[in-house]
Parts: sequence; structure tokens; C-alpha cells
Amino acid sequence: MALAVVRIASLSDHLGETVTIKGWLHQKRSSGKIIFLQLRDGSGFVQGVLAKEDESEDIFALAQSLTQESAIIVHGVVQTDQRAKNGVELQVRDIELVSLTHDYPITPKEHGVDFLMDQRHLWLRAPRQRAILKIRAEIIRAIRQFLDSHEFTQVDPPILTPSSCEGTTTLFHTSYFDEDAFLTQSGQLYMEAAAMALGRVYSFGPTFRAEKSKTRRHLIEFWMIEPEMAYVEHDESVAIQEALICAIVQHVLSHCEQELRTIGRDTSKLEQIKAPFPRISYDEAVAFLQSTGQDFTWGDDFGAPDETKIAEAYDRPVFIERYPTSLKAFYMKPDPARPEVVLCADLLAPEGYGEIIGGSQRIDDPELLIKRFEEHDLSKEAYAWYLDLRTYGTVPHSGFGLGLERTVAWICGLDHVRETIPFPRLLYRLYP
Ligand code: 4AD
Ligand code: MG
Repeated sequence: MALAVVRIASLSDHLGETVTIKGWLHQKRSSGKIIFLQLRDGSGFVQGVLAKEDESEDIFALAQSLTQESAIIVHGVVQTDQRAKNGVELQVRDIELVSLTHDYPITPKEHGVDFLMDQRHLWLRAPRQRAILKIRAEIIRAIRQFLDSHEFTQVDPPILTPSSCEGTTTLFHTSYFDEDAFLTQSGQLYMEAAAMALGRVYSFGPTFRAEKSKTRRHLIEFWMIEPEMAYVEHDESVAIQEALICAIVQHVLSHCEQELRTIGRDTSKLEQIKAPFPRISYDEAVAFLQSTGQDFTWGDDFGAPDETKIAEAYDRPVFIERYPTSLKAFYMKPDPARPEVVLCADLLAPEGYGEIIGGSQRIDDPELLIKRFEEHDLSKEAYAWYLDLRTYGTVPHSGFGLGLERTVAWICGLDHVRETIPFPRLLYRLYP
């Protein structure tokens, strides 16, 4: 008899029915008379139960011989079980062995991080890693839903680029036949061109920084969402960022309840994330650090410990606005009232997760842009196309970049960004 294949996630819709599950054995417990199989199929986990007295000898013996991560097809009756996370368990009737696994490297005992990173291709199967990847996917879905429903059009900038966007020191060099090329640091400059064609646009793709930083916030390859908006000035851009972050958090709270429980996230911290977010100036942030007795000079950039100290003063993300012009990228528009600072904002996540958004209003005046090319030693030829955007129909415009992995780290409450992406590229890690 062919039975319906059911995904574990929807087992509770099949109470009392005999179903088939195609998956793997996650773990096994046995007391001699009864065997508990923890089954997984990608959609979730469920316990299968075999009592010796109810089963044929063959099936019971097969169950007893199964090893961790063996691939199996299980037939059984779905029953309620109040103790189970999803409220159901499976009375196993039959098992087909698809492939037997020997010596699975990741055992239920504790393993070190380096070992687990070497086994990342297998580690992904662990309940916690699976839950993080599910939440990552839901965060991406929330971002797309928000932007798509606010009249943004997705546009894909190139990955291979001839010039830099965020300073030349972190460029990831490669070659393009006979020319030098770089993996993109940010799609922003191209998104500015797209915004002049489509009004409101966003990109979502991988970005690369050859940063010699070995911190819990830095990846060499990370994914960024970069909205860019014509006729939008700094304040409106900040309001859109705030609404986007609130939409992401709400979506995850309502769609990832089980995953958040699996990873042990304190969701009360996420429930506090409501607009309005505090907005402080760089000046105020400096004064705050100084008031804590710290030796900090106006014009210095914040280090990770400074960011953490500032963020810890708030229960929700905090915008720091108007940094000194000298600290920020060449394209940022100076504050007309105070040209020594720029119309920018960094959004710091709570709980010490650091900067999750960097954004600004862009220079729209061609003369000033040419001056910046000179100050930053950028070749006029390489950026001629970018200058054209100011020559032909220039308008005020703003945009921002949301770092996906730091956002995932914050929402999941993870110690390190290495668990936020399936195969992290870190300073000393290109394997697997
Ligand atoms: O602040 P950044 O460098 O801004 C830009 O690249 C702008 N061009 C974006 C724009 O306006 N369109 O980077 C944006 C965000 C940071 O706030 C951070 O969340 C993330 O990207 N980020 C990193 N995430 C992980 N590893 C790294 N090495 C990162 N560098 C930046
Ligand atoms: Mg930044």
C-alpha cells in the first residue's frame, strides 16, 4: 500500500493516520523493550516509538541497528503526545533502510568550534543550525515583503567591479582578463544609477571585504540589502530604516516561534523593538562616552567596545547621526548647516551586536563630488559614469545598507556571525 509522504512540520494535521516520513535518524534511545527514534526530515523533528511487544522481530532488530544520520523511510501512525514540542509522536509500523551511516563525526557530545567549522557541511543538520538558517530565510522574506510593498523595485548590481565604493584598503582583488577587477564591496554606486531610472530600488546580494579583522562581527563575504531612493532626504531615509527593522522583528516573532525556542532566544528583548528608535548625534555619543570617564576625542571613530557601551544605554536600536566628514565615505552629503559633519546615520543593534545599518544622503552637487574625488585620490575617469548622475538630472537622494548576517546574529542572539551564514568566509577560513 502506498502511503502519503508527510512532512514532519505538518504531522499534526494527520492525527490518527498512517503516514510515511522520508528522512534521517537524528538520535536514538533504547531501553531494551522500547526504542525511541528522533527522526528529522528537514522540516522538523519528531519522535518515533517502537515497543518490542508490538513490532515484528525484523523491524525491532533493524531499529536497534540504526546509527546516527542513517537515511530511513518510516511508516507509522501519528499520535498526540503532550510532551513533544509539536504535540505529536509516531507509532512506528515499518522502516526501510535507505543508507546506513558509519562513524558520523558529530556525536551528541560537546565539540570545539574549529572542529564544527571543519564539519560545517554536516553541522548544518543540527537542530540549532537548522533553526538559524530558517530564521535567516524568514528575515530575507520579511525584508523583501516590506520593500516590495513599499514601491521598491529589486535591481541587481554587478559583483565584478572596476573601482571601490567603501575605500580601497579592503578591496578584494581579482583579474578581469587583462584588467584589474575587484569583488564588490557594496552595490550602492550602481543603485544610485538605478534609483534615477526607477525611483526606489534595492539590491540584495553578496558583498566582499578583504578585512583583516578577526572579530565576532566580521565576515569576508557577507550579504547586504541596499535600498536607494530618489527625492528622499536623510530624515525620510532614517524613518524607512526604522519601519523596516520593526517589520523584520515582527515577522520573525510571528513566523519563527519554534526556531526561536530551539535556539533559546529571549524573545522579550525582541518584543521591545518598537518605533520610535532613539536618534542621537555623533556629538552626543562622544559626550556620552566622555561622561563615562573614557578618553575619547571628537573626530575619532567608535570601536566595537564604544558601540556596545552606547547601545547598552537603550533597549532598542539606536541611530547615531552626523559623523565627522573625515570619518566617512566620499559620497556622503555634508550637512548644509554644518559642513564638518555628514547627513548619515549608523544604526546600532541592542545587546552589543554593533552596526547593522550604514546609510546617508548622497552628494548631489557635481562640483563637490569632483572635489571629493581629488581629496580621496579617486580617478576621475573611473568614476566618470558616477559623476554623470549629477550632470544629468541630479536630485537629492539617500540610501542605506543593511548587513544581513549582523541582523541575523542580533535577532537570533548569537555570539558570532559565523553561525549566521551556511558557509562562512572568515579571515582564516575558506573550507568547506
Ligand atoms: O557601513 P557599510 O560599509 O556601508 C556601505 O557599504 C554603504 N555603501 C551601504 C549603502 O549605503 N548602500 O556597510 C553596511 C553594513 C554595515 O552596517 C554592516 O551591517 C554590514 O554592512 N557589514 C558587514 N557585515 C559583516 N562583515 C563585514 N565585514 C561587514 N562590513 C559591513
Ligand atoms: Mg558603516
